Amino acid sequence: MITTPFGATSTAAEVLSGVDLTGRRAVVTGGSSGIGAATVRALAGAGAEVTMAVRDVAAGARVAATVAGRRPAVAPLELADPASVAAFVAAWSGPLDILVNNAGIMATPLTRTARGWELQFATNHLGHFALAVGLRAALAAASGGARIVSVSSVGHVNAGVDFADINLLRRPYDPWVAYGQSKTANILFAVEAARRWAADGITANALNPGRITGTNLSRHIGEISNAPASFEPGSTDVSWKDVEQGAATSVLLAGSPLVAGVTGRYFEDCAEAAPHRPGVRRGVAAYALDPEAASRLWELSA
Ligand SMILES: NC(=O)c1ccc[n+]([C@@H]2O[C@H](COP(=O)([O-])OP(=O)(O)OC[C@H]3O[C@@H](n4cnc5c(N)ncnc54)[C@H](OP(=O)(O)O)[C@@H]3O)[C@@H](O)[C@H]2O)c1
Repeated sequence: MITTPFGATSTAAEVLSGVDLTGRRAVVTGGSSGIGAATVRALAGAGAEVTMAVRDVAAGARVAATVAGRRPAVAPLELADPASVAAFVAAWSGPLDILVNNAGIMATPLTRTARGWELQFATNHLGHFALAVGLRAALAAASGGARIVSVSSVGHVNAGVDFADINLLRRPYDPWVAYGQSKTANILFAVEAARRWAADGITANALNPGRITGTNLSRHIGEISNAPASFEPGSTDVSWKDVEQGAATSVLLAGSPLVAGVTGRYFEDCAEAAPHRPGVRRGVAAYALDPEAASRLWELSA
């Protein structure tokens, strides 16, 4: 099990303190709010040349304007629209050292994309899959080895990938099952990317940021009927982190020399996670690290 001197209360700035990312080029999806914005600030603060891939360019520009140090670029990316992902990829030129697949939606009411895909799977997994595959040559061209960071969630323990019913057509829609499936897919993606792209010097890891205050992720909670009590305002039944703590594990995997060469793993609180145990809101489910499921998901996603 991989550990670091950092833990649950460490901030992103602390994790990258003394780390020089000058000359490294990074893409962070969903950098316009929450954990993504904190990730952008920390990577840029360490000297990286960051591109924020966002669906709301004006919101992204407002965040970019607040970043100290090197000003991030802002580029449009709508993950649920394959044409938008393709356009982002086509516009990218040169090597890419760091890809942080951070954007996400949670517990949306039942929504399907124009192609009929369930929206959380399409956004959280398929969009990021297409983005990474599209950027593979750029990642392979990075000198010193590129890193992919897949922001998952402890919510993955609610559901594995149901290969017989990815789009929840044969069962009643449950927003938490759909979110859990998409977040399991984020981990399986890292497992398979680690295997397939190792020869290109690319590493890929997944993480749970923890439960974070001050983000917009809970925006759909009021629209669904089965939100857990932990989402009620003032709830004290989970350990909350602020966004700077929430971005710590992302930037550890994106830029810290402490995890150089580490690949195909799942982290939380700046360390490799233990196996999930029932009743505990942490750890990693065995199905999320299953290499056969990872390979199968890759083929299906492609
Ligand atoms: N907050 C937590 O407690 C928590 C816990 C576990 C895991 N996570 C994970 O952490 C990640 C970041 O979440 P957060 O809490 O920072 O939430 P957030 O503030 O809502 O940020 C999510 C970001 O994703 C972007 N996004 C959503 N749909 C998109 C799409 N179709 N195309 C492009 N960008 C899109 C959002 O853009 P807009 O601003 O335009 O909507 C926003 O910038 C997510 O992957 C989430 O699953 C969060």
